Amino acid sequence: MNEKLLKKEYLKKISQLQKFNLAYYDKSAPLVADSEYDKLKKDIINFERKYDFLKSPNSPSLIVGFKPSKNFKKKRHRVQMLSLSNAFNKEDLINFEKRIINYLDKKNDFKIEYSAEPKIDGISASLIYKKGKFITGLSRGDGKQGEDITENLKTINDIPQNILDKDFPEEIDIRGEVFIKNSDFKKLSNKFANPRNAASGSLRQKDPNETKKIPLKFIAYTFGFQRNLQIKSQTEFLKNLNKWGFKINPLNKKIESINNLLENYKSLEKKRNNLDFDIDGIVYKVNDFELQKRLGNVANAPRWAIAHKFSANIGVSKILNIEIQIGRTGALTPVAKIKPINIGGVVVSNATLHNEDEIKRKDIRVGDIATIERAGDVIPHITSIEIQRREKNSKKFIFPTKCPSCGSSTIKDFNLVTKKNDAVRRCSSEGFECEKISKEKIKHFVSKEAFNIEGFGKKIVENFWNLRLIKFPQDVFKLDYNKIKNLDGWGNQSVANLKYSIDLRKKISLERFIYALGIRHIGLENAKLISKHLKNIKKFLELSKINIINDLLNIDGIGETQIKSIKNFFTNKTNLNVVYELDEILSIEDNKEFEKNGPLRNKTFMLTGKLEGISRAEAKSLIEQKSGSIISNVSKKLDYLIVGEKPTKRKVDTANEIGVKVLNQNDLLKMLNKRG
Ligand code: IVH
Repeated sequence: MNEKLLKKEYLKKISQLQKFNLAYYDKSAPLVADSEYDKLKKDIINFERKYDFLKSPNSPSLIVGFKPSKNFKKKRHRVQMLSLSNAFNKEDLINFEKRIINYLDKKNDFKIEYSAEPKIDGISASLIYKKGKFITGLSRGDGKQGEDITENLKTINDIPQNILDKDFPEEIDIRGEVFIKNSDFKKLSNKFANPRNAASGSLRQKDPNETKKIPLKFIAYTFGFQRNLQIKSQTEFLKNLNKWGFKINPLNKKIESINNLLENYKSLEKKRNNLDFDIDGIVYKVNDFELQKRLGNVANAPRWAIAHKFSANIGVSKILNIEIQIGRTGALTPVAKIKPINIGGVVVSNATLHNEDEIKRKDIRVGDIATIERAGDVIPHITSIEIQRREKNSKKFIFPTKCPSCGSSTIKDFNLVTKKNDAVRRCSSEGFECEKISKEKIKHFVSKEAFNIEGFGKKIVENFWNLRLIKFPQDVFKLDYNKIKNLDGWGNQSVANLKYSIDLRKKISLERFIYALGIRHIGLENAKLISKHLKNIKKFLELSKINIINDLLNIDGIGETQIKSIKNFFTNKTNLNVVYELDEILSIEDNKEFEKNGPLRNKTFMLTGKLEGISRAEAKSLIEQKSGSIISNVSKKLDYLIVGEKPTKRKVDTANEIGVKVLNQNDLLKMLNKRG
């Protein structure tokens, strides 16, 4: 290739990367898988190394992240937020260590101690503390300037607001990762493609009340600007972070020698899929701060650290069919049925295609050979297809404009928040007229967080529905047990068990009841808020009067989107009938009012070990009824650590060390005015 062509090729790659960056950082909706992104970045860097006439101010070797968004005020980082260079194999690690040894002018056998920290795939944030108080929180932005997302960060429980420890530096910028646990991600609606996007999307909401709805977590791992930090190494710093009340990664390790790093890498890679958070590699940092200082930075990354990336869990297989699944809210989700392949130890035969736009954009067709990625716990997805290997007679996939289940027209809703049409197409029938939606609604109704009917799984719902034993949620409580007794696989005992678990749930709290109805945009949190506001089922039934629904706007956290959806729900006659009939059959309990000014006001509790004769959930609820609150780690913020049988020793030791009161079950019951 001549110089001109090379330059053209190079600039094309740079512009591609910029497009990916915009989608990833600004829109929180990546266009390609992380592995593909990394590959492009590596490609560009290799190009630059090979042909030194290739240069661009937008090269990834010079730039970190992306310009801050316009939604937030910009602020300069006093100490730049750097990026990390990547290592993919043993050779890369050996070179990394060699460079360090050369730079420090040490002998080849010089031993370097590293802090090895799992690299959580989230969003980095910088938290500025002055005199122990959390003042300002910034996103990374382009590394030089971040977005002021203080109010959003304040909604995260893991971020201490006040730190009283005497040895906490007078001024310090604590840095770490904001992320969402996979188990929490699963509970969210399918608005986001993966946990990272969910964290990024919710952290950068304009309205902190929106951020608050997502259970974001924070793990601390480094610092930027600091005054008076008297610490000598990274591992010591991590210990202190924990003592000051920050969460740190429980899998951090102090390790010497490349071989031990590789061993740790192998063992973590195996564990990776069983963790409740996504990690995409391990960060190795030279442990000694003196050495770090000497080593300094190259362009946008420190010389003293590197990210050892995990290989992507990918596989290549043929798309046998594209099926459309219909969810409880009517969303049409295209799923590729692929020729089963083993990806990282799991047999994969389905891969999500997200939505109509995704298929169009990538022009995915039945018969294509596709690359499939399985990241953590998330449903596998298709990252790319091989157009060259496509058969000549292949046809474009046409997304159905009618619901494949009931034939109703499908629509794309206008999103009131983004002021754009949704990417997701939905069946326009409001509920029970559509077989697929109706089944999904009942599955949700009996599920764990709703009515929690033991033994009433998804298969039973399908089976009973097909046999016309159930059509509406209330039918669950009107089952003809004599008929069921005679069905294949059923007998007296199993029917008695089913009847028992159904009868057990005839008494239900108002919040669970509201959640169980499966009204769109009314998840557990919103159902709780509405139940707290309305207090009893009578008031809830009155929502069928439009003017009363608008009253819900007074609830902090309920907006136009939710109101519109509740209106839709109540204007449908079938839905009204479901609610009225259920009210006849069930005993729906009033919302329990917690004392706002109870005797445990402003007091925080944490429980460890098993209590006797009382569950943790009940103890928690009793504490909350008296206005106390439960927190999940031992820090200066904690007032009482309640110790049951076989407590976690570390928690008790830390509490004693930092002067938190340690009480037993009897002490707690006395505080709650219950006999011990
Ligand atoms: S240290 C100069 N430590 O990785 C050091 N980063 O590509 C840079 N990350 O932006 C940060 N876990 O979002 C550090 N234990 C850890 C990390 C970590 C995840 C992320 C962070 C950073 C990116 C660097």
